[in-house]
Amino acid sequence: MVNLETFIEVLDFERHARDALTQMAYDYYASGANDQVTLAENRAAFERLRLLPRMLVDVSRLETTTTVLGQPLSVPFMIAPTAFQRMAHPDGEVATSRAARAQNVAMVVSTIASATLEEVAGGGATPRWFQLYVYKDRGITRSLVERAEAAGYSALVLTVDTPKFGRRYADVRNHFHLPPGLTVANLTGAGMERLSAVKGESGLAAYSASLFDPSLTWDDVEWLRSSTRLPVLVKGVLRPDDALRALDRGVSALVVSNHGGRQLDGVPASITALPGIVAAVEGRCDILLDGGIRRGTDILKALALGARAVLVGRPILWGLAAGGQAGVERVLHILREELELAMMLAGCPTVRHIKRDLVDDTPA
Ligand SMILES: Cc1cc2nc3c(=O)[nH]c(=O)nc-3n(C[C@H](O)[C@H](O)[C@H](O)COP(=O)(O)O)c2cc1C
Repeated sequence: MVNLETFIEVLDFERHARDALTQMAYDYYASGANDQVTLAENRAAFERLRLLPRMLVDVSRLETTTTVLGQPLSVPFMIAPTAFQRMAHPDGEVATSRAARAQNVAMVVSTIASATLEEVAGGGATPRWFQLYVYKDRGITRSLVERAEAAGYSALVLTVDTPKFGRRYADVRNHFHLPPGLTVANLTGAGMERLSAVKGESGLAAYSASLFDPSLTWDDVEWLRSSTRLPVLVKGVLRPDDALRALDRGVSALVVSNHGGRQLDGVPASITALPGIVAAVEGRCDILLDGGIRRGTDILKALALGARAVLVGRPILWGLAAGGQAGVERVLHILREELELAMMLAGCPTVRHIKRDLVDDTPA
């Protein structure tokens, strides 16, 4: 039995997961694409940023609440969509959803989750958003959208950086596939739930290559918007001109993201791409960010550079591996406490006090 009290920082969970998970599961969760340059840069870029705290501000009453798309959040971080959480714990996405509810943190649920979106909704995470991969058969997307609406999801997150999955060498070597009993649960009705081993290839790469639609363009963002009453976000934007295209197509918010370094290797850290996008968007929509968030100070830095909120990916999987719902709760609790401490020490009693000048612009 793992004593979660001995886990005092998010990285403790990652170290534990390395031993606790099978090689195939750990590698799938941890890997980036190719040389993993972007994966490393997501952390390094946060570490390079320097904070300039303000002194003698009354921080006796601290307020971490905010809103995204007008939806209230108790903290400016959410759970990112990550696939196949049942590889980390038998309760998978349902445990994550229960932890989200218990800690009052919002959750984004993946199209290729290992539990159905209805089962995850039953765990109680609120707000909950649904992430979309678009299959070649548009009827599948339409049906997922209808199901998400019916199950109380309050936004759709269209992932735009995945016409195909990036090349993750460890998954190729491990012949990545879903262990017995696990499926792409949301696709069961469509007969696309199986993800098997493929010779000389990651089974997931083969799955996406045969089923995901690589012809997606900005026109399809409008198609999606017209197919739903829910707000639509796009996830995976790294360029200011793409952010403006997204705005033209009427998206409600953007997620600046490089998919945790798992898609095109060699792109900048998302925190490096953020300021240019914030400048181009000029406040016309909420901007979120993910990639490399491991500390309260990372959240503070991202908010200072203009993110409305951030998403946390791998740490949730490490939390699941350590203790299911309780493990995820502990990860969320640590991040909340670290953010509160960082806000206090920086002289920011509320998230509205977290401004651009908190990050030092002087070249190192
Ligand atoms: C194991 C794993 C699975 C992922 N699955 C999805 C997914 O199904 N859909 C999606 O949009 N992003 C997916 N992502 C990307 C995350 O949503 C997020 O962009 C990324 O993990 C953030 O970086 P971080 O892990 O450093 O926090 C996945 C990431 C990981 C690590």
